[in-house]
Amino acid sequence: MDNYVTGAVIRSLRERKHLTQEELAQQLFVSGKVVSKWETGRGFPDISLIEPLAAALGISVIELLNGSCIQNNNRAANIGKSEFYVCPVCGNVIRTVGAAVVSCCGITLPALEAEPADADHAIRVETVEDEYYVTVPHPMEKQHHISFLAAVSDQSVRFVKLYPEGSAEAWFRINRVKAVYAYCNRHGLFQLDLRKKKNAAP
Ligand SMILES: [Fe+2]
Repeated sequence: MDNYVTGAVIRSLRERKHLTQEELAQQLFVSGKVVSKWETGRGFPDISLIEPLAAALGISVIELLNGSCIQNNNRAANIGKSEFYVCPVCGNVIRTVGAAVVSCCGITLPALEAEPADADHAIRVETVEDEYYVTVPHPMEKQHHISFLAAVSDQSVRFVKLYPEGSAEAWFRINRVKAVYAYCNRHGLFQLDLRKKKNAAP
């Protein structure tokens, strides 16, 4: 595959169908904010959404994927920070320090923007001796699941890859962990900043 669906293609097809971002989002069981992210190149629809997305936009999957080339508008925006990238096709997770152009499965990937953990993606952290026990009460179905948890400190990023039908849980050594991340294949990256939450839920 040379191309993946681009934000510009989604926007132009959506406008042609006279759908608002919210109306398109409802058909795909995602939020309007998620559609907005796709259209502005800050995220990609998961591969499981390509078929329903094409159907909602009234075109074939092939037409949708061949719309045009990927534009990564966000490429230089976060120099000096560590970034996460997830390939929507194969699920590969890539983390960089500083600016990078990251490709997987022939697609240039945008850096994920983490949102604060919300009610549907609550990150619960329990301290057990010198470890954090992290859980996310969230569906773990093939189409909708938490696909990794990560703990980030100044020196390291530790990942735990998760799989559908498994549990959304992981153990991390407490040592200087600043933030914990959870990635939902449908709704994106969520973050719990432990520096702000010194008294994380017991
Ligand atoms: Fe989710």
